[in-house]
Amino acid sequence: MVLFSTFPFVMTNIFFILLVLLFTSCVPIGKKSKLSFTPESLPQVEAVIPENVSYEFLKKEILTPHCIKCHDRMGTEAGLAWWLVPGVVEESELFLAMEDGSMPPGRAATTRELEIVRRYVEQLKPRAVKPPRLEAEFVR
Ligand code: HEC
Repeated sequence: MVLFSTFPFVMTNIFFILLVLLFTSCVPIGKKSKLSFTPESLPQVEAVIPENVSYEFLKKEILTPHCIKCHDRMGTEAGLAWWLVPGVVEESELFLAMEDGSMPPGRAATTRELEIVRRYVEQLKPRAVKPPRLEAEFVR
């Protein structure tokens, strides 16, 4: 008799527990987020190299930490120009000395650093003179 009277109560409890289990199984606890932007990926974001590397970027990333202590002439854009041929990476000592591992002494340049130097030298390439802009188009 006791069993019968508690039966519905037990059933609702079991039903409730099953319901909770069903819901919790839908929540991906501890599952790795599909988002690619995680704290671990931040260094990669930081590592992005701009298409046109400016002298300031090159100086901050490479020259100041690795070169200027010995080559203070690299501390200005004009001074650095002595080690390169604008637009021609293969003829630029700045690039070649890093690529062959001789500079900076005792520390191999990373692929990323070589890419920064390459882009810097490339963007110095003298550009073709742009045709004059049709001002009328823009004055409205
Ligand atoms: C510890 C000092 C030191 C550091 C740091 C250093 N250099 Fe040098 N570098 C020298 C010396 C000394 C020479 C000249 C002697 C020689 O040719 O080996 C030289 C020569 C050069 C030359 C002339 C070509 C050559 O290979 O001789 C280039 C280009 C150059 N360095 C670029 C760099 C760059 C770029 C960096 C930073 C990534 C750098 N150096 C860091 C000491 C240094």
